[in-house]
Amino acid sequence: MSDEVLKRVVVAGGSGLVGSRLVETLLHQGTQVTVLSRDPSRLELPSGAQARGYEDLVAVLEGAAAVINLAGASIAGKRWNAAYKRELVDSRVALTTQLVEAMARCTTKPRVLVNASAIGFYGPHDGRRITEADSNGKGFLPSLCAAWEQAADAALKLGIRVVKVRSGVVLSPTGGALAKLVFPVKFFQGAKLGSGQQGFSWIHTDDIVGLYIEAAKNPEWSGPINGTAPRPLTNETFTHLVGARLHRPILPIPAFLTELGVKLLLGEMASEVLEGAFVYPARALELGYAFRFEKAEAALADLLP
Ligand SMILES: NC(=O)c1ccc[n+]([C@@H]2O[C@H](COP(=O)([O-])OP(=O)(O)OC[C@H]3O[C@@H](n4cnc5c(N)ncnc54)[C@H](OP(=O)(O)O)[C@@H]3O)[C@@H](O)[C@H]2O)c1
Repeated sequence: MSDEVLKRVVVAGGSGLVGSRLVETLLHQGTQVTVLSRDPSRLELPSGAQARGYEDLVAVLEGAAAVINLAGASIAGKRWNAAYKRELVDSRVALTTQLVEAMARCTTKPRVLVNASAIGFYGPHDGRRITEADSNGKGFLPSLCAAWEQAADAALKLGIRVVKVRSGVVLSPTGGALAKLVFPVKFFQGAKLGSGQQGFSWIHTDDIVGLYIEAAKNPEWSGPINGTAPRPLTNETFTHLVGARLHRPILPIPAFLTELGVKLLLGEMASEVLEGAFVYPARALELGYAFRFEKAEAALADLLP
């Protein structure tokens, strides 16, 4: 892995779940960090980081070593009605385009754009292992991810290296999907969702941050990189591991009942939970990235002490 210290990094959406951990880690490594936010005055950043709005992008991006773009309305934030779907797309595609257009106007352009994407790019799959060589799926989320990645790829024409991190479900101690999964288990209501046989491709927050930083530093990294741990599981196995960790039973609720519950609760988004894929980080491993957490047992022991 690269020992280079990045001088200055701009993190769009650096106030979120992944961004706040990324910002802390970069600062710790001696990097100057500027966080782009829709409301910079509201942010409480660690000392040493600067918050800026999106108005004066050229000046902010000028000469940055790397731009890491994590911004976007939360995919699991609300039910996907037509208006929210538009927000999910615009907050990613239009914002990424805005960043790339500003990079084009910089005198000293950033060397690399590391753009977030999601394993939703592939759509649901059966038990087969999915790598970066697999193609784009069909449906709303695969189309959104493809358009988001295409917007980032526009920076290639400017001579900027582009890496697209197709993130799996980030397991973090401070919220996100793990908190939602743990809540019912803690209150003796844990159950596999639907058949439970769908792939659950997870990654520990330290590793997703590690991948973003390595992608920014290492000139060999380019194109799509799956941001998942090397050992994806089924939803059922993962739920049982959470139960074991919390010393709680997992209820044998019939598949059709949990399936109905998830569909009523989440609407169209339910397919993201009831279907899945076993996504494997082939490129990151080829490039020599050493995962800190390969196995879900170790990740859960760290996150649910
Ligand atoms: N966490 C996961 O499990 C996961 C899985 C797959 C992919 N990803 C992707 O990875 C990226 C980082 O994930 P995360 O969990 O850290 O995301 P997050 O906590 O939801 O934060 C992303 C940031 O995006 C900004 N944002 C929110 N709504 C926006 C909007 N409508 N327009 C522009 N900016 C907006 C916010 O910053 P300000 O309010 O400061 O502007 C927010 O802090 C996201 O793009 C996400 O889709 C995450």
